[in-house]
Amino acid sequence: MAFNLKGRNFLTLLDFTPKEIGFLIDLASKLKLDKYAGTFNRNLEGKNIALLFEKPSTRTRCAFTVAAVDEGAHAEYLGKGDIQLGKKESVKDTARVLGRMFDGIQFRGFSHETVEILGAYAGVPVWNGLTDLYHPTQVLADFLTVLEEFGYLSGISFAYLGDGRNNVANSLMIGSAKMGIDFRIVSPETLFPDKNLVDKCREIADGTDAMITITDSIEEGVRDADVIYTDVWASMGEESKIAERIQLLKPYQVTMDVFEKTENDSAIFLHCLPCFHNLETEVSHNNPSICEATEEVFESGFSRVFDEAENRVHTIKAVMVATLGK
Ligand code: CP
Ligand code: NVA
Repeated sequence: MAFNLKGRNFLTLLDFTPKEIGFLIDLASKLKLDKYAGTFNRNLEGKNIALLFEKPSTRTRCAFTVAAVDEGAHAEYLGKGDIQLGKKESVKDTARVLGRMFDGIQFRGFSHETVEILGAYAGVPVWNGLTDLYHPTQVLADFLTVLEEFGYLSGISFAYLGDGRNNVANSLMIGSAKMGIDFRIVSPETLFPDKNLVDKCREIADGTDAMITITDSIEEGVRDADVIYTDVWASMGEESKIAERIQLLKPYQVTMDVFEKTENDSAIFLHCLPCFHNLETEVSHNNPSICEATEEVFESGFSRVFDEAENRVHTIKAVMVATLGK
């Protein structure tokens, strides 16, 4: 076999080659077709999977659960408050205990170090379902959606507007560098990504023909863009910063004007979701200026956000099957 990913952790896209990322996306595509055809290969028959969540989740939790069940595995949700993780038992000890009982572990939480310790000590594959630093499974779904729309990844122009230093922005930048994408972070300077990570991504980009641009100019950032992407302005755990972020990021809201500025009729809108785009949520009702995208954009013909959300299942399934499947 040329290569395989059996037994590997999935903590950050930095650990994967372009070929491996391409393989995961292609596998997701195949598993998606299989599911549409009603064919289930039961690649995870008899496996037990732990789903550890310190932060809430709709898509990631449901995608891991549905993907596991589709492939014949049992998924056990362990939420904040259900287990001792770091409170009465160290993360290292918890990892070694869970690794004796489960065949794979998903972690979503705050510190990236937690998922690294789980990965180092569990002895079974550990998958990062989002930390403060990275959200790698999201990017696989985003790239599958782009591939379905345009038929290729290398050469795509991808503009991310908003909080340029959050987990989704970081992972998109890494994934783009690996896959030859012309990637632009468009945000105010105070929210530019970590310089060390940008340097690392530019080094990777040198070998893949990717381009990494960091700019505060919307005109420069979105020109000719195929994809306009945004995320919430204050991530989970940053709720106290909402007012400050609204001030900083209001000019970077994704409006129809942003799409006009791309001068590209084929441009699409992506968002990892959940998205504030109207006042129908408790948080946006209480903070009416919080919307990172307008209702018009969210509901427009540009929007592919629900295809993208569905693709979370197929891509997460690919990660589990590739690292743990028979
Ligand atoms: N995109 C994403 O990770 O969604 P959830 O927070 O609902 O899992
Ligand atoms: N950046 C967001 C992503 C949610 C899927 C957060 O961490 O809250």
